[in-house]
Amino acid sequence: MKQEIQITDDKYLFEILNKSEFEREDVVYLLKLTNEKHISELFKKADLIRKEFCGDEVHLRGIIEFSNFCEQDCVYCGLRKSNNLLERYRMSVDEIIETAKKIYSAGIKTVVLQSGEDSHYTKEDITHIIKSIKEFCDVAITLSLGERSFDEYDEWKSAGADRYLLKHETANEKIYSALHSKQELEERLIHLKYLKSIGFQAGSGNIIGLPGQTIEDIADDILLCKELDCDMCSFSPFIPSPETPLKNISPADLKLTLNTMAVGRIVLKNVHIPSTTALSTLTPEGRKLGLTVGANVIMPNFTPDKYKDKYRIYANKKTYDPIKFVEEIKQMIHSMGRKVSEDKGHSLKQ
Ligand code: 5AD
Repeated sequence: MKQEIQITDDKYLFEILNKSEFEREDVVYLLKLTNEKHISELFKKADLIRKEFCGDEVHLRGIIEFSNFCEQDCVYCGLRKSNNLLERYRMSVDEIIETAKKIYSAGIKTVVLQSGEDSHYTKEDITHIIKSIKEFCDVAITLSLGERSFDEYDEWKSAGADRYLLKHETANEKIYSALHSKQELEERLIHLKYLKSIGFQAGSGNIIGLPGQTIEDIADDILLCKELDCDMCSFSPFIPSPETPLKNISPADLKLTLNTMAVGRIVLKNVHIPSTTALSTLTPEGRKLGLTVGANVIMPNFTPDKYKDKYRIYANKKTYDPIKFVEEIKQMIHSMGRKVSEDKGHSLKQ
């Protein structure tokens, strides 16, 4: 049912916010809002749509950053191959499985396995990890391993992996090529479409605040997520890493980041949207703010202490004790009148 609510005296904004399908120019218009009152109407609408399509539950996904080796050289990322200042680590297969068990013991029903693009872990290694975690823990498994071969995707899906995160990063082909020396946007989209076609719940998303990126590009990011029929979409702010060529570029604008999340929710509706660690790095109340502008997912980091400082995608990435963090996050969620999900939080599209 369409919600017809008189929310503002700005007739044009009112009309757009009450649409259910959006033109590119509508998306650009919403992203460009700067008037505080209008932005507050945008956020209110995003929160209503979140409630209507996702309910009040917030899903927790425990993430393990199991290797910071990366064969790619993305200009914005601290894990890039050319970053000689970063001490590299790889967790053993057993350590990864043990960490997954800790996530499950903490009551979390999704394990996210993330790494740089690191072919040191073979198809068989990842298959073994997936099967072992599934044997010991009743959890969903999300893979976030970068671009791998279709044969590997097939095998990992058969082994029981449920989801795959592979952000498109930017829908602007020229910016994509400039930032990724060896990769093309077209190729990334072929991978995303393949992952979806073999039954993975697929996640994409962008980085906000990349050099040369316009508001129109960000509108295209949101519309691309729609076209790809993504199950999960992450809109996260760029934060410079001092160990990359983009070290002197300013971090993303907070207002633009929140607008993007809100517009993403309004346009995409039944998708999972995380309130990211990058947002909480941009501003101390970031995680909570994200949950008020459309987000319904938080990803507590369970990477063991001895490694977590080394997964330096960007500067000042916050680290914490995961068990305490989960308790604090649960309290925060309850204090907002929301609930902590007790199920696996599968795609809202299935
Ligand atoms: N700022 C924000 N996000 C970044 N990522 C990589 N580098 C940065 C940065 N400097 C994100 C990418 C990648 C995810 C794992 O981290 O979107 O997909």
